[in-house]
Amino acid sequence: MKVLMINGSRREKGCTYTALSLVADALNQEGIETEFLFIGKDAVNGNIDEIVKTAAEKLKACDGMVVGSPVYYAGPSGEVRVFMDRLFSTSSGVLRLKPAAAVTSARRAGTTAAIDAINKYFAFAEMPIVSSRYWNEVHGATPEDVLSDKEGVQIMQVLGRNMAWLLKSIEAGKNAGIGTPGPVEKVFTNFIKK
Ligand SMILES: Cc1cc2nc3c(=O)[nH]c(=O)nc-3n(C[C@H](O)[C@H](O)[C@H](O)COP(=O)(O)O)c2cc1C
Repeated sequence: MKVLMINGSRREKGCTYTALSLVADALNQEGIETEFLFIGKDAVNGNIDEIVKTAAEKLKACDGMVVGSPVYYAGPSGEVRVFMDRLFSTSSGVLRLKPAAAVTSARRAGTTAAIDAINKYFAFAEMPIVSSRYWNEVHGATPEDVLSDKEGVQIMQVLGRNMAWLLKSIEAGKNAGIGTPGPVEKVFTNFIKK
């Protein structure tokens, strides 16, 4: 089993990467493979379609995903927003029923608002949202800060462990004959009266 770790920071090896690495280490310890995808500045530099295509291809071969974002102005980064808007408009069928989690890094505030925003994409695509022993956040301006945030480190480790447990449980369910619920034909309504 494999989980795609998406780094939505403009810094390839910054705080967000450090948080994602802690989750990945915990997944690896439970025998789950991980792969990193750095969406970086390309998400807003005209290459969004290419990055989303690459991500969707990789996600076909993955059983779950973790999306990491730095907090910018009390929300996810613009890079994560653009990426998620495009990924979920084009590829929600690939994502459906795959466990997912959002992790955020902030110097001080805005983490839970950023997590809420990212979780809304997961819920739209029927993805089980994985949680930890607190909201999935670390704090700092450098990777060293993040590693000295002992509570944040533990939250990332527990998140990885919980995701591994859920992935293994889904696999065990499949092996025991519990079928995956198929997609429904969607009913769309709005509030405009004719
Ligand atoms: C444009 C911008 C906006 C930011 N806004 C916030 C914010 O609202 N709250 C906060 O605590 N930190 C904020 N920060 C700090 C980063 O979220 C924080 O340093 C984060 O850990 C950086 O992660 P990275 O190393 O992966 O880029 C902001 C940083 C930038 C560059």
